Amino acid sequence: MRLLFLLLTLFIFVEANDEPDTSLIWGTYRPGLYFGLRPRFPESLLSGLMWFGVHDYQSFLKTRHACDQDDGLESYTWTHYDPREGGVQVLKDGKNNLQLTIEWLKIPGGEHGGSWAARVKGEPMNDDLPSRISMLWYLGMEGLGSVDLDNDEEEDGLEGPVRFSGSSPELGDFTVRIVDGPRNEYITRGNHLQDFANKLEKTHYLGLKVQSGSIWRAKEIILQKILESAQAIIPTYSDPQAGPPDPSVTLLLTDETYSGSNLYVVQKMLEGPFQFDVFFDSASARQKLDSSVITEGIPAFKESYTRRFAETFPLSGAFNSSYRSFSQDITANLLGGIGYFYGDSILDKAFVEEWDEDEESMNDGSRTGEPTRAPPRELLTATPSRSFFPRGFYWDEGFHLLHIGPWDNDLSLEILRDWIKLIDDNGWVGREQILGEEARSRVPPQFQAQYPTHANPPTLAMAVTAMIGRLREASHSLDNDLNVGSMQEPLAIPRSGKPGNRYIDSPQLAQDYLRSIYPQLKLHYEWFHRTQRGQIKQYARKAKSRTEAYRWRGRSATHVLTSGLDDYPRAPPHAGELHVDLISWMAFFSRTMKDIASFMGNEEDATRFASIEGDILANIDDLHWSETEKMYCDVGVDLNDESYHECHKGYISLFPFLLGLVSPTSPNLGHILDLVRSPTHLWSPYGIRSLSAEHPLFGKDENYWRGNIWIQMNYLALSSLYKIYAAEPGPYQEQARDIYAELRQNVIDNTFKEYERTGYVWEQYDALTGEGRRSHPFTGWTSLLSLIMSEKY
Ligand SMILES: *[C@@H]1O[C@H](CO)[C@@H](O)[C@H](O)[C@H]1NC(C)=O
Repeated sequence: MRLLFLLLTLFIFVEANDEPDTSLIWGTYRPGLYFGLRPRFPESLLSGLMWFGVHDYQSFLKTRHACDQDDGLESYTWTHYDPREGGVQVLKDGKNNLQLTIEWLKIPGGEHGGSWAARVKGEPMNDDLPSRISMLWYLGMEGLGSVDLDNDEEEDGLEGPVRFSGSSPELGDFTVRIVDGPRNEYITRGNHLQDFANKLEKTHYLGLKVQSGSIWRAKEIILQKILESAQAIIPTYSDPQAGPPDPSVTLLLTDETYSGSNLYVVQKMLEGPFQFDVFFDSASARQKLDSSVITEGIPAFKESYTRRFAETFPLSGAFNSSYRSFSQDITANLLGGIGYFYGDSILDKAFVEEWDEDEESMNDGSRTGEPTRAPPRELLTATPSRSFFPRGFYWDEGFHLLHIGPWDNDLSLEILRDWIKLIDDNGWVGREQILGEEARSRVPPQFQAQYPTHANPPTLAMAVTAMIGRLREASHSLDNDLNVGSMQEPLAIPRSGKPGNRYIDSPQLAQDYLRSIYPQLKLHYEWFHRTQRGQIKQYARKAKSRTEAYRWRGRSATHVLTSGLDDYPRAPPHAGELHVDLISWMAFFSRTMKDIASFMGNEEDATRFASIEGDILANIDDLHWSETEKMYCDVGVDLNDESYHECHKGYISLFPFLLGLVSPTSPNLGHILDLVRSPTHLWSPYGIRSLSAEHPLFGKDENYWRGNIWIQMNYLALSSLYKIYAAEPGPYQEQARDIYAELRQNVIDNTFKEYERTGYVWEQYDALTGEGRRSHPFTGWTSLLSLIMSEKY
C-alpha cells in the first residue's frame, strides 16, 4: 500500500511537470474556407487555398475559397481529422471537373507549435472531359511579423520551388515552401498561347502590401488584381474571328512584389492530375520537411485515425463499411470544423421588447441608445456548418463538446474554457459569437448584434457533466483494478496513453480545472436564475416552490430565437408567460452545478443547487403539466389576465422527457411515449418531428421548427431512453425499449441514405419525406449520429 502511494505521488509529480501543450497551436482554424490555416494567435500568419477552372472565362467568377452552398460542390468533407495531428479532406468540384484531396500533417517540435506540411492533389472526376485548373495559395501576415519572398524575382514567373521566409513574435522564424509533385502538367495548349511562351509552365506570383486587418479579404484583393491584368491584355486582341487568348494566360498574376508586402500569392495553371506540397518549417523545430513526411506520414495517420475511431466510437457488426466511413467522415468534419476566432463584436444594450420593459435587470444604467463594440475576444470553438454557420454558437457548442469529449477530452476542455472566458461580469454570454470582420462578413447586419439580456439554452453544462462522467468511469476502473481511492481524495491514475487524456489521467488536474471554471460557471448560472425568472404568485398559480419559474426574455411576437427553437408555436408574448423548455434547462443546469460542487467537495453549494433542482422538478409538474391535454405545456396569460396552458404537441412539450427529468414511474411518461410514437403526430420513419403533423401550423411559414426533424433533439430523446427510461424498471420500460430501438434505427438509416444520395449531412430532415433540408454540410450536432451509432450517450 505504501509503495502504491509513493507510485501515485510520483505520477502527480510527473503530471505537474508536463511540458506546456503546444499541439493545438496550428490548425485548419479557418473552417469557413475549403482549406484555410492559422495558428491560435490573435494576429498572425493566415493562409488559404483558392482555385478556379480555366476551361472557360465564367468559372473565374466562381472562384472557390470560402465554403459556399452556391458553389454547388458535390461534396466536401474531412474523412480523417485530428486537431493535434492533421487530416485528409476530399472535395468534389464537378463544375470544374476536379476532385481535390488535401492531406495535412502537423509535425511537433520546437517552441512555436511545430511545423506542418500540406499536399494538394487534383485529378479529373471524368477523364473524358477537360480538367484545366488555376490553383492559388496565399499567405499573409497580420500583426508584428513579416514575410518575404526568397526567390529571385523573375518577370515571367518562377521555376522550381517557391520559398518564403518570415518571423513573428509568436511563431519565431519560419519558412514556407511550395514544391511541385513529380508529374505535373502545366497548361501548354490554347488560343494565342504562343504569344505567352515565356510564361508557360511557371509558377506565377504577386506580393502586395495590404492594410492591417485585411488579410482575410485575400480573395477579393487578389482576384481584383488578376482582373485588372486581364482587362489590360484582352482588348489588345480585337479580332473577333481569332477570339481572346486562353484564360490560362490572361487570368494570371503579374509576377511582381511591392515593397513592404505582407500578402503573397502563388498560382499554377495545371491540366489533368497534379500535386504540390506546401511546407511550413518552424526554425526552432530544426527538422527540414520534405515530401516523404507526407508520403509516409499520411497513410500512418489514416490508419491510426481509423483504429482510434473504432476504439472510441465502436460500431456493432450490424453496420457495414459504408456506415463506418459515414460515421468516420462526419466526426472528422466536426473536428475539422473547429475554428479559432478573434475580434470585437457588436452589443445592443438599448433594444428591448415591450413585454420585457419593466425588468430591473434591464435598467441598470448601461442602456445607451446605440449598439456598441465589445472589446476583442478570442475563441476556439467547433462550428455548426462550415458553409452556413462558420462561427461559434452557444447552444450548439454543448452538443459539439459531447462528441469531441470522448475523442479528445482535453481538447473539449480547452474549448469549454474559452467559452467560459466569454462570460461577462454579470454572468452573461452571447448566443452567437461573431468575432471580428471575417466572421461578421458571413452574417447579415440585422443579426450581428447580441443582446446582454437574452439567454440561450445552457448546453455548456452538458459538457461539464460529460467530463465528470468520464472521470467517474476512469476512477471506477481504477477502483476495480487497484481497489483504492475515491474521488473525494484525488489520486493520479496511471496514464492511459490515450491522446488528449491528461485531465482524465490525473484527477488532480481535473479538480484544478473544475475549480478554475467554477466561479464563472456559477456566475453564469446565477445570471439565468436571476434574469430569466418567471412569475408565480401574480397569477394565483399553484406550485410547490413560490420562486422557480422561468421565461425567455427577448422574444418577438412570432419568434423565440433565444430558446433556439425560433418559430415553434408559443403563447402571445406576455410578461407573465412561462416556458417549459427553459424551466427544464434550469433543472438540468441546477443538477450540473450540484454535480460539480459535490465533485469539488463544496457541500454548501451542492446542497443549495440540489434544493433548487428539487423545487424546479416539482414546479415542472405543478405549473406545466396539463391534465386535460396530457402533456407539458407553456403557460400563457389570456385577455382576462388569467393563467392558462398553451399546448403544442412537439419538441417543447417533450422537454422534461428529453432532458431526463420525468420519473420513470410517472404516469406522465406513458402519455409522452404515446405521443412520441404516434405517427399522426410526432413519429416518422426518419426520426421524431419537431411539431405534430396534425398541428395547424405544421409546415407553415418559414417552417424551421414546425415539423422538420432535428438530429440533436432526437439524440436527446435517445439518450434519455437509453440511460433512464429503457434502463430503469417502471411500467413503461418495455415501451421505452421498443421506441429506443426503432427510433435509433430510423434516424441512422435516413441520415445515412441522405448522405449517400446527396453527399451531405443536413441541418434538418423533412418531416414527411426525410429529405435533407437547409444548411449543408451540417456536421455540427448532426454529427451526433456517430454517438447514436456507437450508443455513447
Ligand atoms: C451497406 O448497406 C447499405 C444499406 O443497406 C447499402 O446501401 C450499402 O451499399 C452497403 N455498403 C456496402 C459496402 O455493402
